[in-house]
Amino acid sequence: MTASVTLMVCVNRRFGPTTPSCAGRGSERLADQLTAMIAERALDVRIERSACQGRCAFGPAMRRLPQLEIFLQVTDADLANIVDSCAALPSQKVAENDDLPPPI
Ligand code: FES
Repeated sequence: MTASVTLMVCVNRRFGPTTPSCAGRGSERLADQLTAMIAERALDVRIERSACQGRCAFGPAMRRLPQLEIFLQVTDADLANIVDSCAALPSQKVAENDDLPPPI
């Protein structure tokens, strides 16, 4: 089953002393916390750990699909609001493969 909402959490890590990365700013821990919060509330939200989302200087970065919203500089204090906003979204029917038009 596909979740109605996916939160893609960038967990890219760079090891250079001057190159910022989301994992270097704690995104892996944030992803763990989000996973626990979503499970606790049994929300139809999937947490997916992603590669770089191109917003390294403003990380930790997260994208919400299918709305294509992006959250930047996410901290522990933001997680409850992000989860609440996911819960407030209307449930969306995701097309099953049988519902898709044939490939061109
Ligand atoms: S390292 Fe996370 S957006 Fe690039």
